[in-house]
Amino acid sequence: MDQITWHDTYALGFEPLDDDHRGLFDILNKIIVALQSDDWETCRQLAKNFVLALRRHYPREEQFLNKIGYSKVEQHAVHHRQMLARAEKFVAQFDKAPDRDLLERSLQDIISSLLDDVRGGDLNFRTDLLEKGLDKALAERSLQSIWL
Ligand SMILES: [Fe+2]
Ligand SMILES: [Fe+2]
Repeated sequence: MDQITWHDTYALGFEPLDDDHRGLFDILNKIIVALQSDDWETCRQLAKNFVLALRRHYPREEQFLNKIGYSKVEQHAVHHRQMLARAEKFVAQFDKAPDRDLLERSLQDIISSLLDDVRGGDLNFRTDLLEKGLDKALAERSLQSIWL
């Protein structure tokens, strides 16, 4: 299973969200490494960290989208909820004897879903933002309160 690579084209230009996304990539790559060495305990811990990171990221992103008046927040939030459910199911797989093939399949689904989110969904609202004429500096000024 290959590790995933962060590309600058995935960046939205809003550091707090980009940092979150890079962090999610990082955790998934660590899970891949742990999975490949059958280090189940590390894997389980990292999977839990991934769920926590999603729980932290999604409300921030949705709050951000609401604040900029993005028209498809609810649609995007549905995708977030599905992703979170997938990640929670992944963690639950460690409650029984780990099945490597099953875990790899689940992890692959999670990776595809995250890539869809970052490359598709999240980049859509960057376009929306630019169409609204909200430049990076202005948006960061007006949205700063979210990140404090
Ligand atoms: Fe995101
Ligand atoms: Fe998203």
